[in-house]
Amino acid sequence: MKITVIGTGYVGLVTGTCLAETGNEVICVDIDAQKVEKMKEGIVPIYEPHLDVLFHRNIKANRLQFTTSFSEGLDHGEIIFLALPTPEGEDGSADLSYVLGVAQSIGKEISEYKVIVDKSTVPVGTADKVRETIKKYTTVDFDVVSNPEFLREGFAVDDFLKPERIVIGSSSEKAIELMQKLYKPFVRSGNPIIVMDEKSAELTKYAANSFLATKITFMNEIANFCEKVGADVDKVRIGMGTDSRIGKRFLFPGIGYGGSCFPKDVKALYKAGKEANYNFSILDSVIRVNDVQKTILIPKIEDHFKGKIAGKTIAVWGLAFKPETDDIREAPALYVIDELLKKGASIQAFDPEAMPNVQRRYGDTIQFASNMYEALNKADALVISTEWSIFRNPDFIKIKEKLNNAVIFDGRNLYDINDIEKEKIKYVSIGRKQ
Ligand code: UGA
Repeated sequence: MKITVIGTGYVGLVTGTCLAETGNEVICVDIDAQKVEKMKEGIVPIYEPHLDVLFHRNIKANRLQFTTSFSEGLDHGEIIFLALPTPEGEDGSADLSYVLGVAQSIGKEISEYKVIVDKSTVPVGTADKVRETIKKYTTVDFDVVSNPEFLREGFAVDDFLKPERIVIGSSSEKAIELMQKLYKPFVRSGNPIIVMDEKSAELTKYAANSFLATKITFMNEIANFCEKVGADVDKVRIGMGTDSRIGKRFLFPGIGYGGSCFPKDVKALYKAGKEANYNFSILDSVIRVNDVQKTILIPKIEDHFKGKIAGKTIAVWGLAFKPETDDIREAPALYVIDELLKKGASIQAFDPEAMPNVQRRYGDTIQFASNMYEALNKADALVISTEWSIFRNPDFIKIKEKLNNAVIFDGRNLYDINDIEKEKIKYVSIGRKQ
């Protein structure tokens, strides 16, 4: 099939590349000419495991092309994916200006039937707005479909190629048939393509992300409570998670959820509730608890240094909002660093992928190390904020040698408390014995 993807951010690029992989002819459109030039040269603009192999293979096979020309893109595809940013607006709701701007251009230039697919996470009612916007400018037949994506950064290629489900929101038989044909190769295992109305599809995405954020936040509160009463959240987590109604996944406490999706989507759903005169009080709590959780290590560090953080050097392992990505959007590590800087500490940081992004934000205000041990040189404490695999099995003797003060504040519960006690390192984690 001929496919066009408008917007080559993380979702658009993964969508375009993976659709090319099953033999479709894909054109990706972006207004950023520099980015398009680089992609044409075979440079993948984001770090996402396994994407580069597919990217190069499909460019070579001429199934994946890039252009800055909107008209070329619109002419090409029988299905046009909108993978555009929907940033958080000033009032917390999703800003639809990119999506509706492109809808307007489609209306002005469309010359034959197309299926327009909202792939971006968009508020309930956006498919209707896109349809109305296009209709203002044309009488040509078209359909609008809501097809939310459920990709996780770091696993996006695998999630796209082997999805647990595909959600298609549409009221047009013709569009549903085309979408089913497109996705059939991805659900050979028997996973479902779930067809529903546009609004339900749009809400499914927000409900899924908000539920997962709530699940994590619930566990963070249980962890905080464990510390008060001397229970161990790891035991509680396993005890709870083996109930299949609860499930083992997304029960890991830590320093709060971050990233480009959960924080934005929870706020947007809360805001949408307000607009519909509905108070999502559970989401209000999730937002507030997560805000506190992001800096939950700070009082623990303050306690250890008896309130004197000023002048201390703190090593930070992990800057990305989670492992296997260089994405630092809403990364809890940055909230920890900001607080430590405010209190007069110096930071020596290491992350396997995210340092260039953090350097752009902090410049010279923090030091970057070329490896995880270098970050420890003469530091007074180690803070762990992302659970990269490389941090899971460190040389504790080296840690002790390099740190001025053998103390680790672990925001991701990476180590077994008994192992670390044997090493005579002071270890402070989340929801476990302190
Ligand atoms: C999330 C969803 O998992 C995807 O299904 C969805 O498609 C995506 O948002 C999106 O809307 O585009 P992602 O943001 O890539 O994916 O990352 P997750 O793996 O879900 O992690 C989100 C945050 O939750 C991270 O900060 C992570 O550290 C935190 N987390 C996750 C926990 O604190 N505990 C857990 O048990 C799991």
